[in-house]
Parts: sequence; structure tokens; C-alpha cells
Amino acid sequence: MGTDQPAHDHRGPVTPGDRPPRPGRVPLLDNTLAMFRDPLGFYDRVGRMDADVVGFNVAGTTGYFVTHPDLVEQVLVTDDARYEKGQLLRDALGEFIGEGLFLLEGEEWREQRTALQPAFYRETVAAYGETMTDFARRTADGWDDGQRLALLPAMQTYTLRVLGKTLLDVDIERTAEALEPLLSSLRVRTDPGSVSAYTPLWVPTPTNREVRRARADFEATLDDIIAARQAESADERAARDDVLSLLLSLDEATMDRERLGHQLLTFLVAGHDTTALTLTYALFLLANDSGAQRRLHEELDATLDDDPTPSDLFDLPYLDRVLTEALRLYPPAFTTFRQPTEPVRLGGYDIEPSAQLTIPQYLVHRDERWYDDPDAFRPDRWTDDFEAELPDYAYYPFGGGPRHCIGMRFARMEAKLALATLCRRYRFEAVTEPPLELGMRITLSPTEPVEVRVRERD
Ligand code: HEM
Repeated sequence: MGTDQPAHDHRGPVTPGDRPPRPGRVPLLDNTLAMFRDPLGFYDRVGRMDADVVGFNVAGTTGYFVTHPDLVEQVLVTDDARYEKGQLLRDALGEFIGEGLFLLEGEEWREQRTALQPAFYRETVAAYGETMTDFARRTADGWDDGQRLALLPAMQTYTLRVLGKTLLDVDIERTAEALEPLLSSLRVRTDPGSVSAYTPLWVPTPTNREVRRARADFEATLDDIIAARQAESADERAARDDVLSLLLSLDEATMDRERLGHQLLTFLVAGHDTTALTLTYALFLLANDSGAQRRLHEELDATLDDDPTPSDLFDLPYLDRVLTEALRLYPPAFTTFRQPTEPVRLGGYDIEPSAQLTIPQYLVHRDERWYDDPDAFRPDRWTDDFEAELPDYAYYPFGGGPRHCIGMRFARMEAKLALATLCRRYRFEAVTEPPLELGMRITLSPTEPVEVRVRERD
């Protein structure tokens, strides 16, 4: 495919020198207020503009939405070497995870990705399956028949436990205490609707002070964990299969103490809320679709005699479709950011290197050019034929190209093992009904509690 000519149906001819359309009547109108007040509404407005590249200006930053799958592929895959993650992300997160895999660039990124890859090989991830199912079973054990349940906090506790065990292999209650405050203050700092998102970290706002305190607690806890590891015998260390062991086994030049902290925090930030939200949305969708939930129960009952193992997942195709469709409708990573390192041409438009590109899963996944009835939850749309027809980057909840999510296999397996374990035991009745009120934080998050009632199955 040529880089300037999308192969799939695209919108409107572009003449050289044209500028991408912008939301707002006045060209170059500052969109900051709209973005502050209602980020999701702003995205929806961009979606309704029927253009594959849309300009915006928020808080002094000029950027472009890129909403055609072929252009998504061009930026993330084909021309990946011409883009970096960009200033917006570095400003928001650099101080915390600038040395972590998510934000590193170039040779340093490549070296770290290669060093960390073994922790995410298929066999390694499969070995985490028991932990994932075990914590899901304990989550289910804690519920009572008929109980009303707020899904997100329950799923956040679950995914933090799984990460604590698989990443750090530590007493999770202690780690959770050190982590929760840091993760929640980072959520506030990265909410585009909050002033904090635009305030440098050195400004002593209450949020920033809280972030600093939480960060210091996290580092102190990590120091304790590392010291305990270093005191272990070689045999004890060899018996561990957590990610921290891998990081500690790397030489100092590849992984010094600062980078180790950034890497672990990267995994925690990238893997915790994202998976908890995926589970929350999937259970919310099932609770509001009794037909889909019944189909899932039938499949689970016909296939499983006990709680699921990773190999059972091959025999649960409907479960796979439920997850795929939930991630389409509510992609926790609702957008991907990039910044060109040189002038580039996208969809016929010239784009300057200072531009922040927003490549929004949230809009592309709901584009009616690729999805019939795009706002409907229809797991059955994911037939082999449908997938064969779908443009590659009309669906990319885990990103694409060399920087795609290293935790994808981990996250999909965790989500499926948890859903299978929980849905075997319980039927979920809707308390919160659609439409969900959503906010764009670091992830796509509900702004109100998402509640269900849990009913034990016989
Ligand atoms: C449903 C859950 C998840 C979703 C939707 C998700 C989504 C994504 C996306 C879209 C990217 C690419 C970002 C970009 O191109 O700028 C990414 C990268 C990344 N994710 Fe995930 N993720 C999930 C779970 C996880 C888990 C469980 C982990 C780790 C345990 C993880 C670790 C990472 C890391 C380290 C990167 C950066 C990779 C690199 O740049 O080389 N993610 N994720």
C-alpha cells in the first residue's frame, strides 16, 4: 500500500496545500474549553465531521485526529520510524515512567523491549494462568448471593493482586497500600478535564504534593522489596518467575535502580486499570444483555468441569468474542499519541513536526464504515469472514506496529480467565443501564459507579 493513498474507502479528495478541517466555526479556534468541559463530547464531534484527518488546538498545542484505518496503519506500522510518542505524553508521565518501556525511544527502547520480552512469551504468560484464576476464585468467594456490587473497584482490586503476584511476587496487601495512592493520583494528573493535567509537577498544587508523597512511598516499598531479594540465596531467586526477578537479573548498564522503578511503574500503570476496565465493561455489557450472558453460560457449562485453565480458553470461542466486542466498544486505551520527528504527509495533508497526533481507538472502533450498528454490543459480528473483510487497523485496542502492547497476551488471558471464573459462578443483573457516562482519564473510565447485582448460579 502506498503511504499517501488509503486502500479503503476514504473521505473526500484533498488538494495540495489544503488544511485539515477543524471542529468549531472559526478556523484555528482554540478547542481547550470544549476539551476541558467534555472530552468525550469533543471526540464525538470530531467523529461526526466525516473527515479522516481533523485539526485541533488544545491548551496551545496543535494536533490532528487521525481516524482512517489505513492512516492509523501508516503511522503506527509502516512509517513508525518517523514518529515518537510525543511531548503531550512526556509532559504528563515523563517524570514517573520516562525511563520505562512505554516512553523510551530509539535504541534504548529496542534494548529494553528485547530484555523484557521473555516475561511476556506465551509459555511465561501461561504460567501466570493459575494466579489469574486463583485470584478470580477468591474474588468470587467474597461475594454474596443478591449483593449489589460496584464493578470497577472490585476489578481493580483483582487486577492489582494479579500484577502484584506476577510482577513482584510479594505480599500484595502491603504493596497495594503503597501503590493505590500513587495510581489514583496519577489518574487525576492525567485527566484532560482536570487542571492538574496541564500543571507541571513542580508546581505545589495539592494534587502534585500528593503525587510526590505517593511516589516516595512507592520507591521506599520497592527498595525494601529489592533489599529482601538481594538477601535471598541463589536457589531461592532461581525459583521465582516474576518480572522483578527478570529485571534484577539484568546488568546494571541495562537496568539501573531508577530505570527499574520506572519499568515496574510502567507495567503497573499500563496493566492495572486497563484490564480492570475491560472486565468492568464486559460484565456491564453482559448484565445488560441477557441473551449474550445466557450464550456465555451455555458455553462455559458445556466446556468446563472446573475453574478454567489457559488451555481451556481455546474451547471458549464465544467468550473470546465477548471480550473482543467489549474492547471494541470501550477501548480502555481510547487513543494513541504520536508526534512526527520530521514533516510528514498524512491523507494528503502536510503535517508539521510539532503536531501532536491523536489516533483514537474510541472513534475508529465505532465508525459505521466498518461496523454495522456500531454502538450495539454484538459479539456475534466477529465471524472469520467479518474479520477477513475488516481493514487491519479498524480494530486496535492494543495499538500496533513495533510499539504494540507487550502485555496484550497477558491482558487477554487474564480477562478471559477472570470472566470465565466469575460467570461460571454468578449471573450478573443490570443495576447501571446504558448509556454509560464516560470520562477520558489516562484511560477511558466511567464517571459514575457501574453497578450490578450478583446472583449465584445453581
Ligand atoms: C486490556 C488491557 C490493556 C490494554 C487495552 C492495553 C493497551 C495498550 C496500548 C494501546 C499500547 C500502545 C500504546 C502506544 O502505541 O502508544 C500499550 C502499550 C504497552 N502496554 Fe498495554 N494494554 C493493556 C494491558 C497491559 C498489561 C497487562 C501490561 C503489562 C503487564 C501492559 C504493558 C504495556 C507496555 C509496557 C506498553 C509499552 C510497550 C512499548 O512501547 O514497547 N499493557 N498497551
